[in-house]
Amino acid sequence: MRSIDDIDVAGRRVLLRSDLNVPLDLKGSGEITDDGRIRASLPVIKKLSDRGARVVIMAHLGRPKGADYAERAAGGPSLHVVGVRLTELLGKQVEFAADLAGPSAAATVGALTDGGVALLENVRFEPAETSKDDSERARLAARLAELGDVYVGDGFGVVHRKQASVYDLPALLPHAAGDLILAEVAVLKRLTEKPARPYVVILGGSKPSDKLGVIGNLLGVADRLLIGGGMSYTFLAALGYEVGNSLLEADQIETVRSVMAEAERRGVEIVLPTDLVVATHFAPDADSVVVPADAIPADREGVDIGPDTRALFAAKLIDARTVFWNGPLGVFEFPAFAAGTRAIAEELTKVDGLTVIGGGDSAAAVRSFGLADSAFGHISTGGGASLEYLEGKTLPGLTALETD
Ligand code: 3PG
Repeated sequence: MRSIDDIDVAGRRVLLRSDLNVPLDLKGSGEITDDGRIRASLPVIKKLSDRGARVVIMAHLGRPKGADYAERAAGGPSLHVVGVRLTELLGKQVEFAADLAGPSAAATVGALTDGGVALLENVRFEPAETSKDDSERARLAARLAELGDVYVGDGFGVVHRKQASVYDLPALLPHAAGDLILAEVAVLKRLTEKPARPYVVILGGSKPSDKLGVIGNLLGVADRLLIGGGMSYTFLAALGYEVGNSLLEADQIETVRSVMAEAERRGVEIVLPTDLVVATHFAPDADSVVVPADAIPADREGVDIGPDTRALFAAKLIDARTVFWNGPLGVFEFPAFAAGTRAIAEELTKVDGLTVIGGGDSAAAVRSFGLADSAFGHISTGGGASLEYLEGKTLPGLTALETD
């Protein structure tokens, strides 16, 4: 993969695909609640700008709905709020184009001077961006290519998506990988090639179906899997426990059973919660109690791991030399149910080895607890992308950058 240091960018329009998909407080102020991905994207933007490039940033925000550009743009979310934050963090005006490949984009890019930076409106306002139809995506990519001379891919969080601005566009322009992508891939490689042992993987988040692929693959490399959060209830159900109103993917129980059997066959330890915080309903102030994992009342739902589980998981991390963590272990957004996720984040800071946090939610959780990024080996900007990398899948955005 060529890096940006290998290409000449001075005076050229560089189309930079970043992942600026940050969480927004959509029920309240609409403000950005964690700007980690913006911060992670800054070094390459700054480097390109310092080298005299005319930087044209493309990014997506959320998953807009609507039949066409106009409908989606009306429903939002607009990247404007991200442009404002980017301007603050970069310490330099980021010009915002109020469309993607339309007149505003053409005028904004046309007015850029060397070192100038522009941000185009949400690429996903164009339905073609995420289309499964190759020719639709190709047409959008050709329109976007008009806006640049060179393409730089730096949106690691989106490299697992076969989308126009990620996969099709690089084929139309000289291209290179940004430093963020190169750094992310270098760390994830260490997790797949000869990780120091014991290698412990912590998986949380809501759906086992999203993560069973990676679990299957990890059984070949990890020594221990600690499973918590919403996905653990399907594992507990697979053991025959009642899970009350907790999140459950009933159609995954059989698959989970076979994963557990395979883990046993391979000598990989799967560690499940032994106790849980269960609430009357999903609300920040819901009444809650701690119960053993095999005694969840029928009218309660699990919202966090309990104190025994926190101690158990901590004990399983003591001798770890490599840890990968994806997915919160409870509803950390509600302070009353954040203790489990917080405790494990704190344990990770004590690990004598490589700790990698993969995923927007886990990264946001860690930052919301006030823990410094530097307390961890690496905080990946990609959740789905890092999981798919660990799964051994081909990532379209990386393939596109590797292809000449
Ligand atoms: C993410 O948030 O994981 C990336 O930005 C990709 O977004 P997506 O899951 O909506 O494709």
